Amino acid sequence: MKISVIGTGYVGLTTGVCFAEIGHTVLCVDNDKAKIALLKKNKVPIYEPGLEVILKKNVQNKRLSFSTDIKEAVKKSEVIFISVGTPPREDGSADLSYIENVASEIAKNMDGYKLIVDKSTVPVETGEKVELTIKRNLKKNIPFDVASNPEFLREGSAVYDTFNPDRVVIGVSSKKAEDILREIYKPLKTKILVTDIKSAEIIKHASNSFLATKISFINAVANICERCGADVEKVAEGMGLDKRIGSAFLNAGLGFGGFCFPKDLEAFLWISEKLGYQFDLLKNVREINEYQKHIFVKKIEDALWVIKGKTIGILGLAFKPNTDDMRFAPSIDIIKTLQNEGAKIKAFDPKATEKAKEVLKNVAYCKNPYQVAKDADCLAILTEWDEVKNIDLKKIKKLLKHPIIIDGRNIFNPKEMAKLGFVYKSMGR
Ligand code: UDX
Repeated sequence: MKISVIGTGYVGLTTGVCFAEIGHTVLCVDNDKAKIALLKKNKVPIYEPGLEVILKKNVQNKRLSFSTDIKEAVKKSEVIFISVGTPPREDGSADLSYIENVASEIAKNMDGYKLIVDKSTVPVETGEKVELTIKRNLKKNIPFDVASNPEFLREGSAVYDTFNPDRVVIGVSSKKAEDILREIYKPLKTKILVTDIKSAEIIKHASNSFLATKISFINAVANICERCGADVEKVAEGMGLDKRIGSAFLNAGLGFGGFCFPKDLEAFLWISEKLGYQFDLLKNVREINEYQKHIFVKKIEDALWVIKGKTIGILGLAFKPNTDDMRFAPSIDIIKTLQNEGAKIKAFDPKATEKAKEVLKNVAYCKNPYQVAKDADCLAILTEWDEVKNIDLKKIKKLLKHPIIIDGRNIFNPKEMAKLGFVYKSMGR
């Protein structure tokens, strides 16, 4: 099929590239000229494992191209995916101005039937607004459909997730729209759930909020474990063996960051309130998440006593491994708090250093964990990269001023760390 994807962020770019890979002809559009210029040189502006290779392949076989021109996208394709940003506003609501803009641009350039599919994460009732915007901006009476097709891919495994989704959700209001979307996703041979548009929109917010709740729940349990000497890892294992609970997303630690969970949680809260329902559970989820960072800093303080003048080595800056994304990374608040208390910070991240430099100043960025450890008063682990999991602990111990490791991601075994002579503090055990 001939498809256009408007917006080349994590979701839009991965979706466009993967649609090309499964046989469609795809035009990816973005109004960021520099980004499109880079993509035209087969370069991916984000770090996402595997993406660049299939991008190159599909550009070469002429199934994938890039443009800054929405008009071209509308002319060339019957199906247009909107995948632009919906950043958070101060009150927690999503800024939908990019969606509105794109919808009106599409309408102004339409010359025949189009299926306009919203892939951006949006509050419920956005589909209705998109439909209205298109109607208002159409020059003549042209048939069209609006659909919702939320995306569930994770950063760091975006390509794998796109080819292997647990489900594809399509929210439609016509059989024609359903048939087109089924055809697009047919090669994936996956479960397709067809709903009305509003339900599809809510599925996305509800799923992310539920996963965030699971994380905050286990973090709260971790805090109880810590107070009584239980081990949250074992508790999570025991809970996860119950199929109704499941073992995923029960890793206690610094809580969730990234551009999706925090913003989607806020947006879901906002839309719930707007609809007249106080979803207080989600407020608690947010509070627990914030508190985890505080607990972590407190552990560092307990281990070092006075923070002022101490050198603290940070391992991992990105909000999770396999991404260079620093948005809402716990490392930002933690490092800023430590700096405010007078600590000197050295840090290592395998991929996020350049992006970290934009948000974290006065940090000595190092090339590897050993440079970080050299003469540091303690090490703090913030992201569970393989490069951190596989450090040579004996070498690290020799380099550190004091053998202290505070681990926000529970990557080492406390008994083994004690045997090696470390003062080792982790989360909930
Ligand atoms: C998330 C959703 O998983 C995805 O479906 C949606 O499309 C976008 O938002 P992403 O933000 O890429 O994806 O990362 P994810 O792997 O879900 O992790 C989110 C955060 O939760 C990370 O900060 C991670 O460290 C944290 N997390 C995850 C935990 O603290 N504990 C866990 O058990 C799992």
